[in-house]
Amino acid sequence: MTAQPLLDVVGLRTHFSSEHGTVKAVDGVDFRIEPGGILGMVGESGSGKSVTGLSILRLLGSRNARVVGGQILFHGEDLLTKSDRAMREIRGKKISMVFQNSMTALDPFFRVGDQLVEIIRLHQRVGGREARIRAHEALELVHIPETGRRMSNYPHQLSGGQRQRVMIALALACRPDLLIADEPTTALDATVQKQIIDLLGEVNRELGTAILMITHDFGVVARLCRTVAVMRAGRIVESGDVATVLRFPEHPYTRGLLSSVLRMRPTAEVPRVSA
Ligand SMILES: Nc1ncnc2c1ncn2[C@@H]1O[C@H](COP(=O)(O)OP(=O)(O)OP(=O)(O)O)[C@@H](O)[C@H]1O
Ligand SMILES: [Mg+2]
Repeated sequence: MTAQPLLDVVGLRTHFSSEHGTVKAVDGVDFRIEPGGILGMVGESGSGKSVTGLSILRLLGSRNARVVGGQILFHGEDLLTKSDRAMREIRGKKISMVFQNSMTALDPFFRVGDQLVEIIRLHQRVGGREARIRAHEALELVHIPETGRRMSNYPHQLSGGQRQRVMIALALACRPDLLIADEPTTALDATVQKQIIDLLGEVNRELGTAILMITHDFGVVARLCRTVAVMRAGRIVESGDVATVLRFPEHPYTRGLLSSVLRMRPTAEVPRVSA
């Protein structure tokens, strides 16, 4: 008997319809994340990683996008059957997401502190003073120095790495059980990238936040994740614990992804793959 997973995605299918036909962006995907677990979802561009993440939070947005099948069990309850109101409660509070293009997720016209206070007050019944204290704590959690000064900064006054830390602080402000991080380091240089990945690992250890890490980078998976699911054309072609999949990739597609990492980043910390 295993404990109930935190997230159990069963047969998820998300399609886009247009006059040119149907795009089966996610086409029968199964995976689970244990409480406090870290799953890497890896695959090339267009394989359906972001659509999977957005489907979980029901944030697909466009009218032609629809989850046409499957279940998304979170704490054993199917998110696909929840009311919109219940989903608003869950988003940000129980499940948070750091979006692929995070610069657009911070409002350029509001101070960092005000954005943190807003999300905290949206989900937690606390007054303004307490919310500010929690906002400071959220910035400390992501190692932003001089939180007082940073709170009054506008997003453009921060470096790319700091903005990404703020995004993570926003996502963690309400201590969710699950963080969906969609390519959170793509726009950053290698050193900052590593710092952010290590920060997520630290958050996972210290707060027990489970993470769905969406990336095309096997180096990130090797550094952070315990389990991995390899996506291709809307399906998971291979999954398992990271050490095994990295060492003994079974699917040719996985081997291809791994060898391209090795080719691209010969000096980076990439997994050693035995021949
Ligand atoms: N709004 C949309 N309308 C139609 N098709 C879409 C829409 N959004 C995504 N798709 C299609 O769904 C598929 C999966 O897209 P998705 O964004 O999930 O890929 P991804 O794995 O996240 O890629 P990347 O690594 O580039 O972020 C792609 O074929 C994409 O063209
Ligand atoms: Mg994506």
